[in-house]
Amino acid sequence: VSAQLAIDGDFMKAAVDSRLFGSFVEHLGRCVYTGIYEPGHPTADADGFRQDVIDLVKELGATTIRYPGGNFVSGYRWEDGVGNTRPNRLDTAWHSTESNEFGLHEMVKWLSRIGGNELMEAVNLGTRGTEEALQLLEYTNIAEGTALSDERRANGAADPFNIKMWCLGNEMDGPWQLGHKTAHEYARLAAITAAGMRQIDPDLELVVCGSSSHSMPTFGAWEQTVLEETFENVDFISCHAYYQAEHGDMESFLASGVDMDSFIKEVASIIDATAAKLKSKHSVAISFDEWNVWYQDAEPSRSPEGLGNWPLAPHLLEDTYTAIDAVVFGDLLITLLKNADRVRAASLAQLVNVIAPIMTEPGGPAWKQTIFHPFAMTARLAKDGTVFDAQQVSQQHETAKYGLVDTVNAVSVLGRDGSISVFVVNRSLHDDAEFSVKLPDGDFTRVEMSTLHEDDVLAANTRESQNRVVLHNNTDARIKDGVVKVTLPPASWSAIVVK
Ligand code: AHR
Repeated sequence: VSAQLAIDGDFMKAAVDSRLFGSFVEHLGRCVYTGIYEPGHPTADADGFRQDVIDLVKELGATTIRYPGGNFVSGYRWEDGVGNTRPNRLDTAWHSTESNEFGLHEMVKWLSRIGGNELMEAVNLGTRGTEEALQLLEYTNIAEGTALSDERRANGAADPFNIKMWCLGNEMDGPWQLGHKTAHEYARLAAITAAGMRQIDPDLELVVCGSSSHSMPTFGAWEQTVLEETFENVDFISCHAYYQAEHGDMESFLASGVDMDSFIKEVASIIDATAAKLKSKHSVAISFDEWNVWYQDAEPSRSPEGLGNWPLAPHLLEDTYTAIDAVVFGDLLITLLKNADRVRAASLAQLVNVIAPIMTEPGGPAWKQTIFHPFAMTARLAKDGTVFDAQQVSQQHETAKYGLVDTVNAVSVLGRDGSISVFVVNRSLHDDAEFSVKLPDGDFTRVEMSTLHEDDVLAANTRESQNRVVLHNNTDARIKDGVVKVTLPPASWSAIVVK
């Protein structure tokens, strides 16, 4: 296999928005309880926040955090999570009991502990509506002097939370969603709610729900209806996508980035068509606010059942990621970066324990899953960078699901310090790939490379073997006459830094 990437310093695609490295904390399973919050844990602080998890979240480099759901938000009463009365409630989305011990104030405080990260708050447009969304906004963003802003102050937060970015519900196209709506029903509710929220705070950045997967039967028509109704009052439309190996077809799984890429491009086309139809100069970006590998049909994803069975913080969606999952995951990050001109925000779903880069044991240790590594490396190198409009030529191969695909997929990013980072994946399951990068003019003499590859593609990190899969320093990269040459192992993800 051979592939080339040609970088011309005169052609840039887009600045990388740091929100591209966002993540997601939902009240689901053990993401909050025994994940980020576990009073009594040996590392917990006075507020019950696990310090070992805080350290790992910082190392991961996650930025904006989406909260509190997810499917959970569609039945959530935000008032239950503030003040002194914290009622137990049924969480029908995950068939669990929500204790409400952790709520909005706790989340804001936790974010200040991980470095003042931005909160992306979702409102409930499933069982609730415009009035409750406006009340929540009054509570969070009005300084003082109204019933709800004064209630926030009485609850210990003198300053407003000033939340800028808001999701107008979650996956309202999904029949599984509490309060699921048709495109027309949702479009009107989202439009009215967005307009009302802007009456309170015109500077908000609002995210309207797009499709909960590329394969939804309503995909396309949903975006068109929703955008036509809400266009001038929203800043983002969401995309959600999860990938898994199906029937052992690893070749198609390794090419999952192809699907994500076409999903983004199709949504971007609908945004452009809507702007043209409405004769609007307003711009709407994509918030890819749920993405990951997720074995949705597997045992860990099965919710509890039974009228008398509503456990607190059950083990749910606790997927253990393998080396090949991390390679696919790295390719999804490459795909988001390649589309940085249209995707201005993204949230890795989720952050801790639930389809997550970080795992914890109640009372015990926290460790990094395989997917932690490509995320942390990409976030560190690309967060403040600018994506080159580089040219990629790759040999191709056939996959059952996506037809002919590029075997090698790569993106290059110019760093603030003038260094160039290239993130590259070899999607071939069995063959090495000879990969070369033609650098732009400049005095580049040093190259460093880290690679994630395991001969056993199913190798994973577990509580017992926490560092089985890590990034390895790869000394294979050579630089000569402005060209970097390297051999990429099969089913591998690499980051190459040139200085
Ligand atoms: O991230 C897990 C779930 O996936 C979210 O709650 C929902 O929005 C999506 O279907």
